[in-house]
Amino acid sequence: MTTKRTFRVWRGDGGDGELAQYEVEVNEGEVVLDILHRLQATQAPDLAVRWNCKAGKCGSCSMEINGRPRLSCMTRMSTFAPGETITITPMRTFPVIRDLVCDVSFNYQKAREIPSFTPDPATAPGDFRMAQADVGRSQEFRKCIECFLCNNVCHVIRDHEENKEHFSGPRYLMRAAELEMHPEDTADRRKVAQEEFGLGYCNITKCCTEVCPENIKITDNALIPLKERVADRQYDPLVWLGTKIGLR
Ligand code: SF4
Ligand code: F3S
Ligand code: FES
Repeated sequence: MTTKRTFRVWRGDGGDGELAQYEVEVNEGEVVLDILHRLQATQAPDLAVRWNCKAGKCGSCSMEINGRPRLSCMTRMSTFAPGETITITPMRTFPVIRDLVCDVSFNYQKAREIPSFTPDPATAPGDFRMAQADVGRSQEFRKCIECFLCNNVCHVIRDHEENKEHFSGPRYLMRAAELEMHPEDTADRRKVAQEEFGLGYCNITKCCTEVCPENIKITDNALIPLKERVADRQYDPLVWLGTKIGLR
């Protein structure tokens, strides 16, 4: 069945822009990205929207739909109430380039700051064996499609530009946790996670987990365990003594 629905779409660049209203045809089974493509084809050929796979796997089509951070290619039109106006805006945490396209380079910068995997040099190539439990743990984190919806929704940087310098966001704190939990990684990531990547700013609101399209339990399985490891380190009497006498 075909119906007409009302959409309000953010149009503009940089700090300047406004919501433009469109009536667009909607067919059964369509997702929000289909509507944006129809809009481009029929009424707004210059509408900027980033997408690639239309299958929830490339992480490109992140935006905010009725105020909720989502992938537009995975948001079915049937989830909205009949007659409901659908408002589509770019991710709020990152600067807008044009229309629905943001500059997400903040995330690339934070990714570069995480010290890379540091295997034990004493382990000869091919000798390392990993327990299935450790494989399974990092497998969950590797489902990440880098859509940046978690970093977009986190209140630490969503409304506080000044925190961006000191906070890597849930995506890259999760990466630090993944490496910290890797049995062959020799780098101690607890101190840098706390002091440089801003783990202490996270107050476990779990909004990141709620919006993750891959259903990764970011807070429970990455951030809280990393916080526990940081606490263990801080309150370990040997570490405390070492700090006092200048060994750590
Ligand atoms: Fe997206 Fe989830 Fe990865 Fe965050 S952890 S970037 S929400 S897939
Ligand atoms: Fe932010 Fe997630 Fe922590 S939303 S406050 S990083 S639990
Ligand atoms: Fe690839 Fe939506 S277009 S995740």
